[in-house]
Amino acid sequence: MSATQTSPSAADAGANASDAFRASVARRPTAETSQERTDRLVRRTLDAIYEVIRTEEVSYPEFQAVKRWLMDVGEVGEWPLFLDVFVEHEIEKVAARTQRGTTGTIEGPYYLPGQQRLPATATLPMRPDEQGDRLVFSGQVRALDGTVLAGAEVDFWQADADGYYSGFAPNVPAGNLRGVIVTDTDGRFAITTIKPAPYQIPTDGPTGAMIAAAGWHPWRPAHLHLMVRAEGHRQVTTQLYFDRGDWLDSDVASATKDDLVLAPQRQDDGGYAVTYDFELEPAATS
Ligand code: DHB
Ligand code: FE
Repeated sequence: MSATQTSPSAADAGANASDAFRASVARRPTAETSQERTDRLVRRTLDAIYEVIRTEEVSYPEFQAVKRWLMDVGEVGEWPLFLDVFVEHEIEKVAARTQRGTTGTIEGPYYLPGQQRLPATATLPMRPDEQGDRLVFSGQVRALDGTVLAGAEVDFWQADADGYYSGFAPNVPAGNLRGVIVTDTDGRFAITTIKPAPYQIPTDGPTGAMIAAAGWHPWRPAHLHLMVRAEGHRQVTTQLYFDRGDWLDSDVASATKDDLVLAPQRQDDGGYAVTYDFELEPAATS
């Protein structure tokens, strides 16, 4: 392992993200895509590529470099990372066209289901010496019409103060900074956690190599991930960011939205507190 002991390599993070994604497929509805639509989507995707080749006059050496790079992404298991950084934001924006209530954004590759269920007021599982500023994140889950949603689940995951996610980096214990908080009879919750650090996508793999070759930066602004769900309501998947944070205006994953930026207030004990309420729309009836 390179530089530091805790640095997750592309191969660690990628292999775990690939396993997590394969396991998740069974949990998700699969789209029924007709032959006609498949023909159209594949054809238009290829046409978009041909257009770049023709207008940019892409050479044989460039074509071979791309072929090799695509093979490398698969071999280290970076497809979930690459696609969630560079493609998911557009899929999410299309989904958002029919979504009311709390603004969503990308899920990313690091969600793990089945985490510890916690009461409405709880501290997220963390190491005794967990680094980072304390943050109390509280709020209420409501339906669009204002009805409070008791027993709603706030499924929460985040990176640590070094930007690493449990389950995807060595030396971070399983379940660290993850949990499912269940709202109280007023639909409220209060989670004690730490402010995460900005996240850097692994720089030692093919995605990192592409970013470096293009002269881009590999950073996402610090963020909290949430899925909020309640019976009879459409689940929202979102992230919350921090005002004045680095990379807020240049997220490599293009997943920030103005109304997802928190302004935590410093408390007398030196920690931070912030509130954010969630509004869920009724589940689609089919
Ligand atoms: C990636 C990581 C994240 O934490 C995230 O929210 C989105 C994408 C990634 O490495 O692909
Ligand atoms: Fe993330």
